[in-house]
Amino acid sequence: MNFHDQDGDLYCESVPLAAIAREVGTPYYVYSLDEIGRRAGAYRSAFPDALIAYAYKANANLAVLRHLVALGVGADVVSGGELWRALKVGTPPHQIVFNGNGKTPQEIAYALASDVLCINVDSAEEMELVAEVARARGVIAPISFRVNPDIDPQTHPHISTGLKQSKFGVPITEAGLLYQAARAQPFLKIVGVHCHIGSQITQAAPLLAAAQSLRDLTLRLKDDGIDLALINLGGGLGIAYRDERPMTPHEWASAVNAALGYDSANNDSTKIGGLQRARIVLEPGRSIVGAAGALVGQVIHLKRTSAKNFLVLDVGMNALMRPSLYNAYHAIRPVRAAAAALTADVVGPICESADVLGRDRALPDLKRGDLVAVMDAGAYGFSMASRYNQQPLPAEVVVQGDRWEVVTQRETWEQMAARET
Ligand code: LLP
Repeated sequence: MNFHDQDGDLYCESVPLAAIAREVGTPYYVYSLDEIGRRAGAYRSAFPDALIAYAYKANANLAVLRHLVALGVGADVVSGGELWRALKVGTPPHQIVFNGNGKTPQEIAYALASDVLCINVDSAEEMELVAEVARARGVIAPISFRVNPDIDPQTHPHISTGLKQSKFGVPITEAGLLYQAARAQPFLKIVGVHCHIGSQITQAAPLLAAAQSLRDLTLRLKDDGIDLALINLGGGLGIAYRDERPMTPHEWASAVNAALGYDSANNDSTKIGGLQRARIVLEPGRSIVGAAGALVGQVIHLKRTSAKNFLVLDVGMNALMRPSLYNAYHAIRPVRAAAAALTADVVGPICESADVLGRDRALPDLKRGDLVAVMDAGAYGFSMASRYNQQPLPAEVVVQGDRWEVVTQRETWEQMAARET
């Protein structure tokens, strides 16, 4: 079991979080490998023919990545650094897709040299750059276009990416011309189409509308003699931070198969409704790792003022940006359960008013040294952490059954200064 209460103590699988804190100190991130495996497995069984290209930006810890590679999960990478990690953990190159709206010529060359499955091209300008880099290397670049279908994902504006005013992708209405232009380029090979309309999507309709748009585009391109081998629907499936009810991967699969005209029961059909059966690619991040991680810190003070109570922790927006950046909700639990006795804002030690992890939370009367866990922090937690205020990055721990291991050491102040002269 993932995170659960056992006789009043919060556990990750069979390991009490307090036991980890005694040895590792705080703050630390902890990830349940079995939970990650279950969630990745749900995608693999819901979409048996698809490439599940896990979005590294959500959590690129090498131990987590190694676990996913062993389960046959591929990689969605958006930088040379992420590509390096994908190769380092042994991801087969044909399971790697390279995304991003500002790839450098060096990163494109690295992707081509690594023989990745596909470069998802974000613009006409980037198509020219990819063709130029491919020509210089004497290779043919496999590309998809990231199209922007102008669909509102009904999520936070900062994580909406498929509206027409967004910086990502090419307007779907202009895609046909770009595909024609790409076809005329000798150093490009068109392999597919890509879209990603946003993240933490909890409604089915926007994801379905995106799949339908890609289907329509694929059929139009087919009429023009362009056959696509890959239909990449991106990531975006949300998780329940509070009481959201996002689709499960299986529900998403039935919806996608219906939208694309695929019959999930009939895997060997190659042509349905005029649509060549292209391989589905998905890029889930949050829905694989989000609920599998927590951030554990300890109480410095319970500060009482006439206006408010503040639970001051040894960790805040430096380690978990999401509440400050998106006003995101994360459940916050005392590691040792007790009855709620007060309401407080849970804040970190950072010198910013935005350094609030949770507002007006009902909490027990906690004392200095008591441990607190910020839940559902496995995605976009450590990966977005900073050293602001010269706070070291947290340690990272993985748990499997009753075994646990520190996989990222806490930094020392000397290490933080090591690259400075
Ligand atoms: N594919 C592409 C092209 C993406 O841009 C993203 C996320 C994903 C896949 C993975 O999406 P997911 O399955 O995780 O929703 N920092 C924000 C989330 C930003 C997501 C950016 N792109 C947060 O903490 O909510």
